[in-house]
Amino acid sequence: MCGIVGYIGNREAYPVILNGLKRLEYRGYDSAGIALYDGSDIQLCKTQGKVSDLEAKVEKSITSKGSLGIGHTRWATHGVPNDVNSHPHYSNSGDLVIIHNGIIENYGSIKKELINRGYTFTSDTDTEVLVNLIEEIKKQEDVKLGKAVQIALNQVVGAYAIALFDRNKPDEIVVAKLGSPLAIGIGEDEFFVASDASPFIEFTNNAIYLKDEEMAIIRRGREVKVRNIKGDKLVAPYIQELQLNLEQIEKGGYDHFMLKEINEQPSVIKDTYRGRLLADQGIIKLGGLEDYISKFTNADRIIIVACGTSWHAGLVAEYIFEDLVRIPVEVEYASEFRYRNPIITEKDVVIAISQSGETADTLAAIKLAKEKGAFVYGICNVVGSTISRETHSGTYTHAGPEIGVASTKAFTTQITVLTMIALRLAKVKGTVSQSDYMLHLRELEMIPSKVEKALQEEDNIIQIAEIFKAAKNFLYLGRGYNFPVALEGALKLKEISYIHAEGYPAAEMKHGPIALIDEQMPVVVIAINSNHYEKVVSNIQEIKSRKGKIIAVVTEGDTVVKEMADYIMEVPATPEALTPLVTTIPLQLLSYHIAVMLGRDVDQPRNLAKSVTVE
Ligand code: M6R
Repeated sequence: MCGIVGYIGNREAYPVILNGLKRLEYRGYDSAGIALYDGSDIQLCKTQGKVSDLEAKVEKSITSKGSLGIGHTRWATHGVPNDVNSHPHYSNSGDLVIIHNGIIENYGSIKKELINRGYTFTSDTDTEVLVNLIEEIKKQEDVKLGKAVQIALNQVVGAYAIALFDRNKPDEIVVAKLGSPLAIGIGEDEFFVASDASPFIEFTNNAIYLKDEEMAIIRRGREVKVRNIKGDKLVAPYIQELQLNLEQIEKGGYDHFMLKEINEQPSVIKDTYRGRLLADQGIIKLGGLEDYISKFTNADRIIIVACGTSWHAGLVAEYIFEDLVRIPVEVEYASEFRYRNPIITEKDVVIAISQSGETADTLAAIKLAKEKGAFVYGICNVVGSTISRETHSGTYTHAGPEIGVASTKAFTTQITVLTMIALRLAKVKGTVSQSDYMLHLRELEMIPSKVEKALQEEDNIIQIAEIFKAAKNFLYLGRGYNFPVALEGALKLKEISYIHAEGYPAAEMKHGPIALIDEQMPVVVIAINSNHYEKVVSNIQEIKSRKGKIIAVVTEGDTVVKEMADYIMEVPATPEALTPLVTTIPLQLLSYHIAVMLGRDVDQPRNLAKSVTVE
């Protein structure tokens, strides 16, 4: 949902900002813009399209580049993606220049008021309203920029990460945050501002992550002053040492981040359980969980809130928790949960799952659950993200940066964490036998090598992709633990190839979707050895007799489904509760290769953004 970058220091700002925008492009990519200030002249360039379009335009239009600048890559909320609506935005006087990630909900009434006072607007954005509100306050109250920003932000409703500067203050950038992320990189006599640390990782390892309702005044060659937007108190900022390295945010020889991330799964799953799973000793130890085990074991139920792929991981967890821990679980779309007056009590435990840790709907669901007195546990990938801070406790997935918009390694590492939590609780509650417990621990430890094996099917999957790349629709079917995997497979295909796909529990097919099946319809069936194997075999028969084309995910060595299916993708055998960790791999590869063959923008599919920080 928009990426923002800023720089103030001694080097030329343009290359820093341009590179930063390229790294943040996963957050939004329908338009981009930059403003550079050399102390006498502000140069602003913006365009519909990608950062590469901006780069081409800058080369033609910008001459003096300066050592202060801000840049933006946009995912449109207010106003269509065009040049005018792109950020940065000037205030009416031309003195203030702003970039913004988020939404100002009450911008309509503020705009009316400003129009009454003679302000004019060139764009349809809420951001242009905000910068003019700041300008008006600065003028009316005769205050400095920082104070005007503070007063203005106390009048707006919504979410923001903003960075702005004033023509009259060539050595200052003001930033603020509520609901959208904002990091300040601290270099030697230079400062960086960005939605995440990736734009400045080669310059500094030290960063301040602003908290909600904090703002900072960043002055060239001076200290960063952080204060609370609601009060006048200065806040002592916590300077964090970053764990990120450049290699993690580069493609490392792969054509796309998505393919890199798919292939990273064996190693990142290991990173997820490293030091937490000691299979030989029969130990699972999750720092964030140990002190709160009784919250879980005494809970009436567990409610899982999440969106998209993270919601699918939550569905997998519903099976694991109910199966192994015998606690009732409800899995909720965060966006629905927050608006339907849900019944939540102090005896509930809420688990929030989010790769980015910034998803607005999930965050709102967490706030609601906390208000109602529930204990809230977070499972996030991005360290220091808002959700990781807003929850009472939690576990990081340690998957490393996921840059491809389609979530892959986040899903499998989330399931790894959820499985470890379930096994730990099951052990405490005594709902799993010692032999089953040990079996699952040992098998979980073997998942990376099994995922590795599943990845070796890629050449076969490329051939299958070639055959079905022109299909208009796909059905994905699975049962039990693999029903969520079917949903996830369909989501992956939809979002990166733009082919319509639906996931269904295999047995539900006969209640409607079976009408769709004809010789044009590829049906991906997860038909591994499991409790449902025979039933799924029957479902395959039903599809075959209606001439549907079967692409089956089967357990290595399977002979029955192999005979019946048109094409198969093999995965290694593993206990049923762990199967989603391997069955999802061929589905990720299938979507990826179909999308590549169709010439899609795999890492930045249309209309999407990596972290959805608006409702
Ligand atoms: O960062 P989160 O896990 O909270 O994001 C949730 C969804 O927006 C995300 O999973 C989305 O569905 C992905 N594009 C799926 O690949």
